[in-house]
Amino acid sequence: MDISVVGTGYVGLVSGVCLADKGHRVICVDLDEAKVAQINAGQSPIHEDGLDALLQANIGSRLTATTDLADAVSKSTLTIIAVGTPFDGSAIDTSYIEAAAKAIGTLLRDKESFHTVVVKSTVVPSTTDEVVLPILEQASGKRAGHDFGVSMNPEFLREGSAIGDFMEPDRIVYGGTDEQTFTVLNELYSVFANVDKIRTTNKTAEMIKYTANSLLATLISFSNEMGNLCAGLGGIDVVDVMKGVHLDKRLSPVLENGERVVPAITTFIEAGCGFGGSCFPKDVKALISHGQKAGHEMNILQSVIDLNHAQPLQLLSLLGKHFDSLQGLKIAVLGLAFKPGTDDMRESPAIPIVRALHKEGAEISAYDPVATDEARKEFPDVPIQYAASMSAAVQGADAIVLITTWDEFASLPDIINNMEPAPLLIDGRRMIDKNSVPRYEGIGLSLS
Ligand code: UGA
Repeated sequence: MDISVVGTGYVGLVSGVCLADKGHRVICVDLDEAKVAQINAGQSPIHEDGLDALLQANIGSRLTATTDLADAVSKSTLTIIAVGTPFDGSAIDTSYIEAAAKAIGTLLRDKESFHTVVVKSTVVPSTTDEVVLPILEQASGKRAGHDFGVSMNPEFLREGSAIGDFMEPDRIVYGGTDEQTFTVLNELYSVFANVDKIRTTNKTAEMIKYTANSLLATLISFSNEMGNLCAGLGGIDVVDVMKGVHLDKRLSPVLENGERVVPAITTFIEAGCGFGGSCFPKDVKALISHGQKAGHEMNILQSVIDLNHAQPLQLLSLLGKHFDSLQGLKIAVLGLAFKPGTDDMRESPAIPIVRALHKEGAEISAYDPVATDEARKEFPDVPIQYAASMSAAVQGADAIVLITTWDEFASLPDIINNMEPAPLLIDGRRMIDKNSVPRYEGIGLSLS
């Protein structure tokens, strides 16, 4: 099938490259000439595991990039819109998607064959039918569901494992205005055999995306609330509590052979210093705002956000149990990215933690295997000693604050146990065994 993809950001490029690898012919379109040149040269403008290799395997054959939208639309039967929808504090900003719809619609005016426009960007319910579709109709002078089709098809990619998530998806969800559109989408995804596919309305497809992310974010805040309570009550470790909770067969089923399945979802009920990234915080806030505008208070999701906002500062409270003041203390921060496997610092819990440490007068050293450059951009005003390794970062530290679960941090006890005096470890992710170092504090644990 011939496909054009508008927007070569995270979602657009991963989708384009993977669909080409699956056998479709794909033209990626972006306004940015430098990005287009880079893609055509086989270099991905974004860092994602496995993307460069897949791009190089397909570029020039089934995959090309261009700035020429007219050419791309004329050569394809389906156009995927994958431009950003940032949250401006009160609603998602649909201006990029509206501009893309207008440009595509104008080109459809002269296109004789049926063309399908697919919205892949994350948009709140009814945006596809009530914003994108009317723009396409107006710009093309044609009728949706008759002369062209409109489909909403959310993505469920995780940063760091986006290629695997695209190639072996949990599910594929798509809405559509008419039968012909569904036929096109069926063909697009026929290359994904044995994957559950949900054919639904555009509005429901939009809601599935937000509900999925809201559920995961809610589980995290729920666990964090339980962890904070365990710590407050004293004498209870949230890790032991959640182990007991996991063993409910509805969460971790037991197979007929007696083997216990430990589904990935159980990691979301482990307490920590909060969620970040470009999706959970933005999507939950956007859904709250959308719900409120429709007269629904969204109390649970508001609490999810409020708790997550305060959660990183739990680590400061734990420091406060041991030090009257942080003035002049050397604090080592381990992990800056919002999660391991990425250099992305958007909404990372490291941001409020580092800022609070600086405000309290601490001398900060920091180590992250890949996010140092991003951190320099994030904290131009904070004097941070960026270390080249974990052991360099913690040398001479009074306390260590662990924020991101990079695998290499598992060897932290070996380093701490060779230090004299041993620094206090504040474990923001309950990654390290509490008995493996002399001075330990963690989320959801109150040591006397
Ligand atoms: C998330 C979803 O997991 C994807 O399914 C979705 O497609 C994507 O958002 C999106 O909407 O585009 P992502 O933001 O890449 O993916 O990252 P996650 O691995 O889900 O982690 C998000 C945040 O939650 C991170 O800050 C992570 O540290 C935190 N987290 C995750 C926890 O605090 N506890 C956990 O148990 C799991």
